[in-house]
Amino acid sequence: MLKATLLKATEASGKILQQYFDGPFEVTSKSSINDLVTEVDKKSEEAIIAVIKETYPDHFILSEEVGELKSASSVKWIIDPIDGTVNFANGIPLCCISIGVEKDGEIILGAVYNPFMNELFVAEKGQGATLNNRPIKVSSKTNIEQTCLVTGFPYQWQDMPNNPLQAFETIVKKGIPVRRLGSAAIDLCWVACGRFDGFYEHHLQPWDSAAGSLIVTESGGRITDFSGNPYSPYQKQVLATNGHIHQALQDLVNGK
Ligand code: IPD
Ligand code: CA
Ligand code: CA
Ligand code: CA
Repeated sequence: MLKATLLKATEASGKILQQYFDGPFEVTSKSSINDLVTEVDKKSEEAIIAVIKETYPDHFILSEEVGELKSASSVKWIIDPIDGTVNFANGIPLCCISIGVEKDGEIILGAVYNPFMNELFVAEKGQGATLNNRPIKVSSKTNIEQTCLVTGFPYQWQDMPNNPLQAFETIVKKGIPVRRLGSAAIDLCWVACGRFDGFYEHHLQPWDSAAGSLIVTESGGRITDFSGNPYSPYQKQVLATNGHIHQALQDLVNGK
């Protein structure tokens, strides 16, 4: 069963993150000096892929550090072995494992696990979303002025279609609280369980948002790009809210 494999993989990876959290571990840079990868990202990824391959050797894998392990399968596992690597590398326990399962182009299953808070978010298409097995839902706030938002910033700014600082400035100048946790997957889950009312980020990768997107929609929230188009893990811009404030946040992010 896909879900059992998903949970087994997140559990195995969670143990690795906990085991290595206090270090020492090797940290290197990728595309820019602060685009980090640790040896723990790689160990976590290996463990996740090993669990999946045990049951589903022919499934397609898309994972941040190894890239694509292509296959003709209609099932694709979209994996972030540590979301929040900069936090992890600095000993900040705000990071998670994020795994989404895409079937025929649609995310049908997702899990996000923060082993340091012992918080496991799971969603199954049409079955709702849970936090540690309890159903969750988005907040009910309707006035954007009273919301608490979260965002993130890229580690490199080339090819950015619009400036993340402009959106940030517009929101901050309205006096609306905006947090920056450093893990897009946790940001999305915290929208899903009502801790935040909205999230937006300008430049995400499929593994940052695949699992979280389903957790948001299965909690009653909405997720789109910055123009309100339907979500796809392959688009960079992601805007997720409780639904009520979606248009209002979309307008602010677009500088309106
Ligand atoms: C990052 C985190 C961060 C976001 C970055 C991502 P990583 O993922 O999700 O919150 O702002 O855009 O790259 O590299 O820690 O897996
Ligand atoms: Ca990364
Ligand atoms: Ca990530
Ligand atoms: Ca990562």
